[in-house]
Amino acid sequence: MNEIIIRNLSEELMEETVKFISSCQSVDESFIAWLGYSPEEIKSQLMDLTPSFKERCLIAIDRGAVCGFLGIYVSEEQSTLRLLGPYVSMKNSWTEIAVNLLSALKEKIPAHIKMAKVAFYDANVNCKRMYETNYFTLYNAEKTLILNNKSLISPLKLINQKINIRYYQSGDFNDFIRIHPTTAYFTGSEVVSRLNPYNQLIVAKLDNRVIGYVYFEMLVSDGYAEICFVNVSPEFRSRGIGSVLINQVITEVFKYNWVKHIQISVRVNNEAAERLYTRIGFKEKNVIIALQRDLNVCPLGEFI
Ligand SMILES: CC(C)(COP(=O)(O)OP(=O)(O)OC[C@H]1O[C@@H](n2cnc3c(N)ncnc32)[C@H](O)[C@@H]1OP(=O)(O)O)[C@@H](O)C(=O)NCCC(=O)NCCS
Repeated sequence: MNEIIIRNLSEELMEETVKFISSCQSVDESFIAWLGYSPEEIKSQLMDLTPSFKERCLIAIDRGAVCGFLGIYVSEEQSTLRLLGPYVSMKNSWTEIAVNLLSALKEKIPAHIKMAKVAFYDANVNCKRMYETNYFTLYNAEKTLILNNKSLISPLKLINQKINIRYYQSGDFNDFIRIHPTTAYFTGSEVVSRLNPYNQLIVAKLDNRVIGYVYFEMLVSDGYAEICFVNVSPEFRSRGIGSVLINQVITEVFKYNWVKHIQISVRVNNEAAERLYTRIGFKEKNVIIALQRDLNVCPLGEFI
């Protein structure tokens, strides 16, 4: 193998790096969850990393060209980090470059982080083999479902007409975090801090109380919207509130003609939610597996 240089991502190599990641994202065998598809979307996600992409991202360089990438997204609030990679273009040296990236990244991981997570398609056999060899274990498998257009299958009517569906307002916060699961990949505060014209939270209210919500993000450069979370308080389920919330998202996002489809991920054993989405017209696309390593039990050592 030629000498591969591992170094922090720099401004000069940003464009080349995001094109490289984008080419990997278009193939199931190298796709990693959490980053987008187009170079523009990926660039905006890397630019949003805190404290900065230079601190959070490593690249591998072979004879002046980017041949590998690995980044981390750190959630301080959850004391977890998500591994954005590794992406490696050289098939013959895949493991060697991936291990070098991971070993270098180890130095960047804040001491208080308790859990490392990563997610990808089952078809990404290189990542699967490497993470499993390094004590990452399966904690979740999610089906990705897609709705391509407005061809909806008969939306249900709300039983209780007093239910009000509207955009989130700051006074809803306490009710909202009460029903938002603590295990979700964004905490309630993180969801609220992400709100902007493209990331929206819609609530269902009854008697001035939030009893359900849906949070979705529109990825402009990638031309699609993602429903990230939908939840209805247990005592108000099976009254059509979940369906109405999803239909509201469909109405909102298809107002933009650049939105080509809506995506939603559902745990493989969450039959109630999957039934709801397929009845509305969502179709299964593929399955993403998520692995984690508890850093308290198994601190990061040398990668193999
Ligand atoms: C998934 C979830 C959001 C669905 O919300 P919901 O308000 O119960 O959804 P709906 O009421 O629209 O649909 C649920 C069922 O009620 C039935 N229903 C809805 N309105 C009805 C009505 N007016 N009369 C009779 N039945 C009705 C639906 O047909 C559906 O039946 P099915 O389970 O046999 O398909 C809710 O179960 C939930 O919060 N689950 C926990 C969190 C979760 O799993 N979120 C999804 C993560 S991807």
